[in-house]
Amino acid sequence: MDSKEIRKKFLQFFESKKHEIVSSAPIVVKNDPTLMFINAGMNQFKDYFLGNQVPSNPKVANSQKCLRVSGKHNDLEEVGVDTYHHTMFEMLGNWSFGDYFKEEAIKWAWELLVDVYKLPVDRIYITVFEGDKKDGLEVDQEALDIWKTIVSEDKILLCDKKDNFWEMGETGPCGPCSEIHIDLRDDEEIANVPGIKLVNEDHPQVIEIWNLVFMQFNRMGDGSLVDLPAKHIDTGMGFERLALAIQKKKSNYDTDVFQPLIKYIATRANVTYGVDNKRDIAIRVMSDHVRAISFAISDGQLPSNTGAGYVIRRILRRAVRYGYTFLNFEEPILYKLVHILAHQFEEVFPEIKEQQTFIEKVIEEEEVAFLRTLNLGIKRLDSIKLSLKDDEIISGDKVFELYDTYGFPVDLTALIAHEGGYEIDEKGFEEAMSKQKSRSRQAAEVSTGDWVEVKEAQDVEFVGYDKLVDHASIIKYRKVEDKKKSFYQIVLDKTPFYAESGGQIGDKGFLECDNEKIVVFDTKKENDLIIHYCDKAPSSVDSEFYCVVNETARRKITNNHTATHLLQAALREVLGEHVQQKGSLVNEKVLRFDFSHFSKMSVDEIKAVEKLVNEKIRTNIALDEQRDVPMAKAQEMGATALFGEKYGDSVRVISFDNEFSIELCGGTHVVSTG
Ligand code: SER
Repeated sequence: MDSKEIRKKFLQFFESKKHEIVSSAPIVVKNDPTLMFINAGMNQFKDYFLGNQVPSNPKVANSQKCLRVSGKHNDLEEVGVDTYHHTMFEMLGNWSFGDYFKEEAIKWAWELLVDVYKLPVDRIYITVFEGDKKDGLEVDQEALDIWKTIVSEDKILLCDKKDNFWEMGETGPCGPCSEIHIDLRDDEEIANVPGIKLVNEDHPQVIEIWNLVFMQFNRMGDGSLVDLPAKHIDTGMGFERLALAIQKKKSNYDTDVFQPLIKYIATRANVTYGVDNKRDIAIRVMSDHVRAISFAISDGQLPSNTGAGYVIRRILRRAVRYGYTFLNFEEPILYKLVHILAHQFEEVFPEIKEQQTFIEKVIEEEEVAFLRTLNLGIKRLDSIKLSLKDDEIISGDKVFELYDTYGFPVDLTALIAHEGGYEIDEKGFEEAMSKQKSRSRQAAEVSTGDWVEVKEAQDVEFVGYDKLVDHASIIKYRKVEDKKKSFYQIVLDKTPFYAESGGQIGDKGFLECDNEKIVVFDTKKENDLIIHYCDKAPSSVDSEFYCVVNETARRKITNNHTATHLLQAALREVLGEHVQQKGSLVNEKVLRFDFSHFSKMSVDEIKAVEKLVNEKIRTNIALDEQRDVPMAKAQEMGATALFGEKYGDSVRVISFDNEFSIELCGGTHVVSTG
């Protein structure tokens, strides 16, 4: 069964069990400060688990693009060295939001693996949560009893919280889980050491393939567990590992998911994969990393110097460095792999193919730039070596300088130093590194208190398209503190305040009742909650508040947002339809519009765009706003959507001058362009 078939069978199976097949969320997270990248299929459903939102269908399944590079769920340094961890991977999942629970989840998982995929029953092991004293939790007897009706007891292991209690992060929805492991070793090895001894022991051929999570708690900021409003199922199966098991290979990289990439790299490097361990690692690193980089770029995250962009840049540099050192790639090569991905994922994630040229350009430029610094760094290292006295080793500060200034990972510095017969002070480097880390941690430390619930959660109504003042009451609030200040976040049952999104900044204003006036200095979204950033805690929490948006600022922001649409339309007309929005900033002073185009704009082109935008302003075109348009209809209308943006089933369509500018947009717009 090839990997396309494997994916298809998963989705068909759950469709036959009455699940709705939904699309993957973009891999880059936009509206959740606790997460940079999607690290599990359940991320996009967090609000359903927490009870903040009601799903339109309680049973869904999909294949989700995930990225695990740092934080709770991965270590970049391992990827490529072993044969079964990845940065970017697909997670096949099925979910129940308050619908079925353990029994169906377990039985269906078994049916799919054994009856559909025909995995050998005697090679499968099951783990069950053994309980945890500190959290006051007993063994998961219910799951244990269900498994006992399916597999013999000697196939079941009880495991602790580390392996069998799934949490998305430090806080948030969580619960006990049951994992399904498979032993892929040869019979001979199995005769020597039984598989059960190797479960959860980091053996490359005795691996977890599916995790069934029984979501029932919310982990609070103080570490305590609180029951969720309902019980849910969240399962995640590693697609690449499943392919490994079904295709009976020894490594994920031997499956048809990675082979086309591996073959291409090996051919270009003029080496044979599987002969030299160091070269093999380099080939694996490159073939893994190019996937992560390409998907992140296609979902809107360009490599940069901070935050999520820096994570992508680091991954890219790690790949360049491995190729340079072990495969002698001195010219850009990663970008040449994008066409393979475009073809491979054409049916399931067409975004790569649709943006292929753009992704290639971005990667190639990054490669060129880093290959240049690699050379400079090597020169700097040479001069450091020359300045050393006899027997002196390269100091930690110097190694850190190479890391910090030239992007040299410490192992690269060590490797080059060793070649010249020098040693480096690794401990000194670690110290310099941890000093820097603690500096940046201190600068960024934020502590977020638990929500204080005031009244029952409900869907929050945004009324700010039609009015700038309204009455509303508080659903919940919490305190947030960082090094410099503390402030409060307030959620209202309805609000005229626009929360920062789609490039448009959040509204400012105030909330007022008889006894107090609270300043709202910003408004942001967390998933779909609209959060007002306020200067103080509300004291009369049950009162009705008069909510007033700063009208002058909003009007200017609105002008700039409409101008952004006119600009995008003009760019597409002057430069061509390939122009894609890559980001934007709309505030009361300026607008900034990032877009993809393959060369610098000429003065004439800039003038032509300005002229066209000005014309459209002077013609005083009326706004045509349509709310709640079904997504399919909006696409038919030819509305421009943004790659990497998560859209609901129904969308808002904003057009000016009919066909001239027509975009999916949640922002605020002027009634006429004049
Ligand atoms: N959330 C669980 C995981 O990521 C199951 O989907 O493993």
